[in-house]
Amino acid sequence: MHVSFLKKFTFFLCLVGGFFLMGCSDEQTSSVDKEGKIIEIVMGTSADMPPFEFYEASEIVGYDIDIAKAIAKEMGFKLQVRDMDFSALIPALQSGRVDFVMASMTPTPEREKSIDFSEPYLTLPLAAMTLEQDAVTTQKGLSKKRVGVQLGSTHEQFARDVASRDKTVKVRSLNKLSELVQELISGRLDVLIMETKTAKAFQQVNPNLKVAALEDNTVSFALAFPKDSKWREKFNVAIEKLQISGRLDEIRAAWFSDYKNKLKGL
Ligand code: ARG
Repeated sequence: MHVSFLKKFTFFLCLVGGFFLMGCSDEQTSSVDKEGKIIEIVMGTSADMPPFEFYEASEIVGYDIDIAKAIAKEMGFKLQVRDMDFSALIPALQSGRVDFVMASMTPTPEREKSIDFSEPYLTLPLAAMTLEQDAVTTQKGLSKKRVGVQLGSTHEQFARDVASRDKTVKVRSLNKLSELVQELISGRLDVLIMETKTAKAFQQVNPNLKVAALEDNTVSFALAFPKDSKWREKFNVAIEKLQISGRLDEIRAAWFSDYKNKLKGL
């Protein structure tokens, strides 16, 4: 009797929750005008990763953000950027709370089971970040170390794979990259794994951090979409146009050749 009440109650909660979620997703993605023409698309990101997506005062800026703005302009839409934890991005795509994600996300076969990716727009080496006196350049160098990675990232997967073969490797996952850097500086972690350009950006503000390439691992970044989204092809076309017009090179130059003064707020 008691159990069946609980069951019914749980069912009721799910029903209400379901309606609530449906309601949310309806009003939260791309908005349309009176004629049903799309005017605004919603992008999810995790704005903790300079120089790609990060806060400058209260504004989210960066290489990815500029590319997303250029794509939206090319397609004639306004862009709304929604910030969340990196680990919340794939669920946000799946539940239709965002139209696409641009967050330095790496396409993997595992992720491709639940979401779709654009063509990659960048490929970068992977780095190990330590305090000045230490250095890690190989997977072996992670032995006996407390390794920090972002929750839900491919780096977490990478570190957990290494740890499954070498039990002396301890992995800790946190939500934000800045939290990881803080833990490293306070001596509660020994090494962080992230992309080289991001590691270098943090190093500019904390010169006692050391950044080394982690073997010859590289990762690429792509935009992510819900499975079978109508947007993916349109975005690929827009990206190609920006490539041909030279706009992508301009954005790259703006963020990668001299972004030192853009990182003051970190
Ligand atoms: N490239 C890695 C991944 O896809 C890390 C991306 C982290 N992105 C961020 N905005 N914090 O898992």
